Amino acid sequence: MCGIIGYIGSNECTGFLIDGLKKMEYRGYDSSGICVKNGSLTILKREGKISELEKSMNSSIKGNIGIAHTRWATHGEPNEKNSHPHMSTDGKIAIVHNGIIENYNSIKELLIEEGYKFVSETDSEVLAHLIDKCYNGDLEDAVTKALDNVEGTFGLAVIHEDEKKIVAARRGSPLILGVGENEMIIASDAVPIVSLTKKVVYLDDNEIAVIDENSYKVKRLTGESVDREVQEIKWNIGEIEKKGYKHFMHKEIHEQPTAMENTIRGHINEGKIKLSVDIDVEKLERVVISACGTSWHSALIAKYYIEDIVDMPVEVDYASEFRYRNTNLRENDLFVVITQSGETADTLAALRKAKSSGCKTIGLVNVVGSTIAREVDSGIYLHAGPEIGVASTKAFLCQITGLLLLALYINQEKGGTNDPKLIEELEQIPSKIDEILKHEKDIIKIAEKLTYCRNFLYLGRGLNFPVALEGALKLKEISYIHAEGYPAAEMKHGPIALIDNEMPVVFIATEGKILDKVISNMEEVKARKGRVITITDSRDNKVKKLSEDILYIPKTLENLTPFLSSIPLQLLAYHIADMKGLNVDKPRNLAKSVTVE
Ligand code: F6R
Repeated sequence: MCGIIGYIGSNECTGFLIDGLKKMEYRGYDSSGICVKNGSLTILKREGKISELEKSMNSSIKGNIGIAHTRWATHGEPNEKNSHPHMSTDGKIAIVHNGIIENYNSIKELLIEEGYKFVSETDSEVLAHLIDKCYNGDLEDAVTKALDNVEGTFGLAVIHEDEKKIVAARRGSPLILGVGENEMIIASDAVPIVSLTKKVVYLDDNEIAVIDENSYKVKRLTGESVDREVQEIKWNIGEIEKKGYKHFMHKEIHEQPTAMENTIRGHINEGKIKLSVDIDVEKLERVVISACGTSWHSALIAKYYIEDIVDMPVEVDYASEFRYRNTNLRENDLFVVITQSGETADTLAALRKAKSSGCKTIGLVNVVGSTIAREVDSGIYLHAGPEIGVASTKAFLCQITGLLLLALYINQEKGGTNDPKLIEELEQIPSKIDEILKHEKDIIKIAEKLTYCRNFLYLGRGLNFPVALEGALKLKEISYIHAEGYPAAEMKHGPIALIDNEMPVVFIATEGKILDKVISNMEEVKARKGRVITITDSRDNKVKKLSEDILYIPKTLENLTPFLSSIPLQLLAYHIADMKGLNVDKPRNLAKSVTVE
């Protein structure tokens, strides 16, 4: 949700800032803006994609200090006046902000009474005027004083016409400092930083950083100085390029065999699971998992794994619900959060709530150094590599990989015996995914037929019920086609009323204990002239006869079918959205990292 970036150093920075915004465009993309200091402050803002801002740049906009912003609107519609940076009325202070100022109304009223003039409908503009009000020749001091009056969340970068520094602060929205040679960067995530430096410093909540060309200092907002070590980013700039693919999402779908191998690497040794997680298995009584969106679908799959392999009760909750419920967590519960970004506001709040109840917490996180990765007691990094497409694909696969490893690990540590065939087969899954990817043309043919359908149903049972949910989510978020996922047997309790000869119903019908039941559900759809599209590993003739179109996936163990059945669904959604000419990587209204409630 919104990306901010700032640069101070020996080089002219506008190109870097625009490029940095483009790399963070997945965080928000309804408007953008830049402000550079070259004597005075020069500002430019545009509604729409960053390319609009780039087109309007001219040679008068240049400087060695600058801040920039790409917006995902919360308060005030996406237009030029609401886009950032926001400035003090005298044009001497400029700010970029990611987060929500909850008490902005009361601050705004006070400032208006004092004569401050507002030009936007945003909550963020109050920060520019409040910092101006607190300014007395020292920007760091002014920002600290201003933030003392603020409730809500912020990742903030501020510049002043008379000072050669950037002041940044964080509470609830991520901020990372890039430490270069004679240049420093501040940004909402590491992606735009790596082109200049791999050395980073992660800010924590309620910290303020002051950076100039050669140095940085970090303090608590309450004044104590903080000694924060520099860390090294491990991935390469090449990982955030499209490498010949039309979209990041397509590239990321194809990266899945390698991504999954990376998740597994180092965790399986001669049939034993090795994880560096801090779990007191002796005392463990229950696992509670919390996440949002696609990560929540992974959690539902983990429920099957832990209940089946460890025979232990598991609860799964949306983080947004968990955080406001009386959740009755107990000391002997293990609380697991799953998140690609490691910054999702609701997931972070759920984690903090769980920690306050005293149980052990574990995170399955992709982004190294993210807030959730740093706040969990221990965890499993997914090593999926940067996921840029807004729709999650490889992170989902790597999450279910990590979760299966976690279930096997708990079982092993409790003295149980893991099925060696399951572990061997897990290691074979990447090559089976490769097989599916080789048959992409078959999926494209089906996508061509279904591009203009208005509604879809996705049905699956058992482990493939969450896959149905995930398939429907992928389709709706990137193609804007209404799609719903259901447990196949639930169809007759309502959704069956929707079925007519225009309605594609995507069945995930894999071999296993309940295939016959799923076939009965297919019959029910067929009897109502619905269009049955089937993802299956079964050669059962009935499945073939009932299907208008059928996509075969390689055979695997029943427990591992989600690893394979989810792939054609990702490709189906991708190709339908692409055929509709939509911006697959940046679907409307969405952002990659949801750092607001
Ligand atoms: C859907 C998608 C979202 C995220 C959700 C949680 O394709 O990407 O539903 O899964 O916003 O994000 P993380 O995993 O970063 O916490």
